[in-house]
Amino acid sequence: MNVLVTGGAGFIGTHTCVELLKSNHSILIIDNFENSHPEAVKRVEAITGKKVNFRQGDVRDIAFIKKQITDFKCEAVMHFAGLKAVGESCQNPLKYYDYNVAGTLSLLQAMQSCNVKKLVFSSSATVYGAPKRLPIVEDTELHTTNPYGRSKLIVEDILRDLYTSDPSWHIAILRYFNPVGAHKSGLIGEDPIGIPNNLMPIVAQVASNRREKLSIWGNDYPTKDGTGIRDYIHIVDLAIGHLKALESLNVAQCNAYNLGTGNGYSVLEVIKMFEHVSNQKIEYEIASRRDGDVAECYADPLYAMQQLDWKAERGLREMCEDMWNWQIKNPTGY
Ligand code: WQD
Repeated sequence: MNVLVTGGAGFIGTHTCVELLKSNHSILIIDNFENSHPEAVKRVEAITGKKVNFRQGDVRDIAFIKKQITDFKCEAVMHFAGLKAVGESCQNPLKYYDYNVAGTLSLLQAMQSCNVKKLVFSSSATVYGAPKRLPIVEDTELHTTNPYGRSKLIVEDILRDLYTSDPSWHIAILRYFNPVGAHKSGLIGEDPIGIPNNLMPIVAQVASNRREKLSIWGNDYPTKDGTGIRDYIHIVDLAIGHLKALESLNVAQCNAYNLGTGNGYSVLEVIKMFEHVSNQKIEYEIASRRDGDVAECYADPLYAMQQLDWKAERGLREMCEDMWNWQIKNPTGY
């Protein structure tokens, strides 16, 4: 299938492109490099030995998107392009609504005018906010606590409204938990521009002496060791989940799926595992809680397992090993 991949040069996009190419799909990456690197596209070609079609551009440019869909004879779209830092979204909400909501609207309008109606959308477990029950199932009440999460929920609602108005759409909404790790080759990985927000990249930078120490945002949560618990999922498992979601779009639908492992690990457990695989001491200090953080968040992955015939296979050790391999091979990223 000819697949248009927006944001395909990013962390999740590149890993998904590798899996698409391995499954003999043809891909066209569109990226504006706001939060990614051109080198990443070359690395995808190096891993797969296949040519990657690529156009630099912005999903908010409807004419540009229409031209790419037409020229590439696109049959489906995987939409990763967007911004994802919770803290930044609180400081600059308009930027997040412009990129994440207006960008998706432009993409959908271009797809509709070209009669291309197969879409895999990159959503987030952030749409669940502070879950009242764990593990989280897909029909859990949706509520968000920050502009980033709200931008994802607004797009989900747009997609559900679109499908209600025109049930010829084939839509899979994928709610990511905490994607971490890297491709086994160490050629592609997470390379946040600027100061990373997420735990794993920070731990990797401390282990490689790029950062002095980690601040643990709170150790007084009602959890097994007081630190926050999250459902970390290996990026390759996540990428394979996208492939399975695409393959499920052979019938008209609009479904949301949790892409998580169903296992929760605490900050201290992640630190301990990372120290084990890297043989490096991770220096840390205990700091006060971060605004907006929840104590625990992990998925019930059963629905995705049943509907997509998909299950995360890789555990925390492999996530840390592959993250460390990426870090030491690319100490300053791409
Ligand atoms: C994980 C745990 C922190 C950094 C965010 C987004 C979510 C998704 C994934 C996009 C928490 C603790 C972290 C640090 C720490 N992104 N931590 N010190 O907050 O679960 O989710 O990223 O879809 O939408 O909200 O991930 O990696 O930031 O935090 O103690 O320097 O690590 O408190 O318990 P989070 P995270």
